[in-house]
This record gives sequence, structure tokens and C-alpha cells, in this order.
Amino acid sequence: MKNWVTFPRVEGNSSRQAHAKLPEGTYERELGKEGFFGPATQMHHSHPPTGWIKWEGPLKPRAFDLAADKRAQSSPWDAGKVVSNGHVQVRFWRADGAMDHLVRNGDGDELMFVHEGEADLYCDFGHLAIRDGDYVMIPRGTMWRVEPKAAFSALLIEASNNSFRLPEKGLVGRHAIFDPAMLDVPRIDDAFRAQQGEKTWRVVIKRRGAFSTVTYPFNPLDAVGWHGDLTVVRINWRDIRPLMSHRFHLPPSAHTTFMANRFVVCTFVPRPAESDPDALKLPFFHSNDDYDEFLFYHRGKFFSRDNIHPGMVTLHPCGFTHGPHPKALAMAMKSAGGQMLDEVAVMIDTRDALDVDDAAAAHEWTGYVDSWQPKKEAAE
Ligand SMILES: [Fe+2]
Repeated sequence: MKNWVTFPRVEGNSSRQAHAKLPEGTYERELGKEGFFGPATQMHHSHPPTGWIKWEGPLKPRAFDLAADKRAQSSPWDAGKVVSNGHVQVRFWRADGAMDHLVRNGDGDELMFVHEGEADLYCDFGHLAIRDGDYVMIPRGTMWRVEPKAAFSALLIEASNNSFRLPEKGLVGRHAIFDPAMLDVPRIDDAFRAQQGEKTWRVVIKRRGAFSTVTYPFNPLDAVGWHGDLTVVRINWRDIRPLMSHRFHLPPSAHTTFMANRFVVCTFVPRPAESDPDALKLPFFHSNDDYDEFLFYHRGKFFSRDNIHPGMVTLHPCGFTHGPHPKALAMAMKSAGGQMLDEVAVMIDTRDALDVDDAAAAHEWTGYVDSWQPKKEAAE
């Protein structure tokens, strides 16, 4: 435990337990450092902290509709960047068919989250059939290509100059959320052997953001075997068994799936809402004061957000409080809880500020900042 300049105090009319037994008629807001692992305080407000009526200046909640970008590319390197900083790059790639070349990322590990479709992935380590909802972790330097079987789109998350790893499971043990034995790896199978041969293949390497092409008079995916603990791994959100408590709204960190040094990737999957009468039944208002929060909506009904559909992204930079939309808040306050929250979303929380890149900026929903206003929401 670090020696934070802090110790718990209670002031005024307050609950003693975070996210439960709120004082009558109040809205809870959590102010947290270090992604809620550092000092944190729950405030009890008499108005929702998202009740602003005017917002000026460059810092604001933003939303983007990646589903509206219909451009397809033959190479993931041509996919538009969505957000980035020195430690992470997020691209959204819509494949236009089977890749006619291999790619190799020399800048960092790649985490592919398949949004739509299914495909065969061929890489140094063999063949892996992939489908929507798969996370495919591709170690830096791996050669790979995909052959889609249907329309195929994916979020590509690069851990720049870094590696993905699994989170500490702590109290809940190493088999929680998903058993590491559920991680699939590519196989040297008949399909892999069938794509080998003496045809010319190009390998397009990304290093320091620049591209170099190496041509071979044969397919360099020609391994006949391998052994070791460095390989491509795959896990689908359907194999994630989420942590939940019927009495306590767990923070997003409970849903951490992959980590790198300066960001985490969390997965929200269908789970029951809290059912205890005293428990909060949806995300609490919060200021995540050291992290920018990027959320990609994959499928389902996004219960705490209005006017959000699959393929959309929200970005809540640190520096302000955010939380559920008024309609969700009103519904949750009336609800006994226990209902299934049918949503799948990928969250990337970054320690360093994210820049919004062209692929996102071109499809921005500029009215998002006003979407917490009940009147505006009714008009939309
Ligand atoms: Fe948040």
C-alpha cells in the first residue's frame, strides 16, 4: 500500500459504504485517482453532476460513429486511426476481402477485437478461425493475414513499444473471469499447410509508423512446428464470466481483460443488474481523474447511454464528471434490479491523454455533450 497523502474522513450527510445506502434524494459521484485504485471520495450531491446546460471549450465528452465509415481497406495498415497517444493506437479496420500480403507490426503488440464477421487468420504460429467478439492478441513482430468469410471489421489496439498481459486476479483467483486454459492458439493444421507454397508473398512491416515491404519467392508462413510460450492467443467475450455482486456496483476495473503499461482493456458483457434494495443499479457518476476513457460499443442495448448503437465510440477525457443519461437514471431508480444488462462493450482506459484522429473525427456526433439534457434528449 502506498503512503497516499490521505486518510478516510466523513463530512456532513454521507453513506459509509460506497455505492450503497445513498442519503435520500442524492446523487453519488466518485472522485478517484489512479483509476480508482488510489485515493477516492464519494460525494453526495443534490443534483446530477451531468446536469450542465452549456459547455464551451475543447474538453468535452465526445462520441463517434465508426459504423458510418463504410470505407474498406485491403490492409489493416490502411485503416484509419481513431484515437492515439504515445502508448496506444486504436484503428478501425473494415476488410475488403482476403489480404494479398502479410503484415508485421514492429511497433508493438496488436490486440484485434473482431466487431463483425468471421475469418481465417494465418500467422507464424499457424491457422486460427476467428469470429465476431474475439480478442486476438498478436505479439509484436508476428507475420499475419486474414481471409474473411463474410463482411469483416475489427478494432485494432496497438500497445506501442509494449506488450499485452493478463491482469492480476487477486482475491478471486486465477480461474476467474476466464480460465487461462480457455485461450486458444493457432494450429499447424491442414488449412495452414494448404496455404504454404512457392508463390511470391509480400510482408508489409510497420516500424515507427513507416512501412517497409519485404518480398519472398515463397510463403514465409511455412512453419512445420513450434514450441514455446510466446504465441497468438484468442478469447471471445462469450467465454468471459463476469464478476458481479448483487449488493455492490463493481467498478470497471473488475472487468479488466488485458493490460499494457499505460492503459487497460476492459470488457463489459451481459450480466444481471444489482438487486439489493440499497445498491446502486447502474454506473455511478465519476471523475476518473488520471485516465481518459474510450468505450467501443460492440452489441446489445447500452443501458446507461441513449442514442448509442453498435460500432459507436464514446471518449470521456479526464477532467470532468460523467455518468448515466437521465432516462437510464430514472429507470434504474425505479427498478428492483436483477434484470440482465444485455451489452457488450470494449473499454480502453489510458493514463495519457488521447488524441482524436481522422477516422473518428470524420464521424463525430457533435450533439453528444448535450445528450444529458432531458429536453434535448426528448427532441432526438
Ligand atoms: Fe467512466
